[in-house]
Amino acid sequence: MKGIIFNVLELFVEQEVSPGAFDEALEEVELISDGIFVGPKTYPDEDLLALVGYFSEKLSIEPFPLVRAFGRFALPHLAARFPNFVEGHTHPKTFLLTVHGVIHVEVRKLMEKTKLPDFSYEDPAPNQLIMYYRSERKLCALAEGLILGTGDFFETPISIDHSECMHRGADACKLELVFEDGGPSRI
Ligand code: HEM
Repeated sequence: MKGIIFNVLELFVEQEVSPGAFDEALEEVELISDGIFVGPKTYPDEDLLALVGYFSEKLSIEPFPLVRAFGRFALPHLAARFPNFVEGHTHPKTFLLTVHGVIHVEVRKLMEKTKLPDFSYEDPAPNQLIMYYRSERKLCALAEGLILGTGDFFETPISIDHSECMHRGADACKLELVFEDGGPSRI
């Protein structure tokens, strides 16, 4: 997983847990890497999972809601680092429709050795979007959080029905989104 994700995890922990809590975790958790995370470089997924496991236990929060909260926190920080990805969008739906074919494609060009998930879409109604998520990492909790964070960013609440899940044997996670403002304006 890219260093930028660890960098945002550090911010999340410092702001939402307590200042110094991330450094404390680095001392207590046995990581494969040396704990110095540089944005575009790649670090073992196991290190991210070990840190999630540590905070899950320390805070008595199950890993899924913890990772989802992290994703929600992360989206505005990713948007701040890559402002051109949000430019021109005023609604989360149009933005989310660019994640697979534009944003992650550009991320692949900017960074070497990326491992990005696969998303496909169905657009059944103006106030809805279905996103199918596939990744061997099965980080659908992160996807849910990033979607909720997109809703926060554009000030449009989104409800998500995670009706099929890779953790329950499906070959993709089906995320059925409803935009509570009725969808993007067509004017
Ligand atoms: C400004 C917007 C975004 C940027 C710059 C961005 C960038 C990235 C980067 C750098 C990674 C790590 C790739 C690696 O470790 O090789 C990643 C992973 C991921 N992204 Fe995005 N992303 C953005 C928005 C989103 C949104 C809105 C979603 C959800 C719909 C999403 C879903 C994911 C997921 C689930 C992963 C984890 C990898 C996996 O599941 O295999 N991203 N993204």
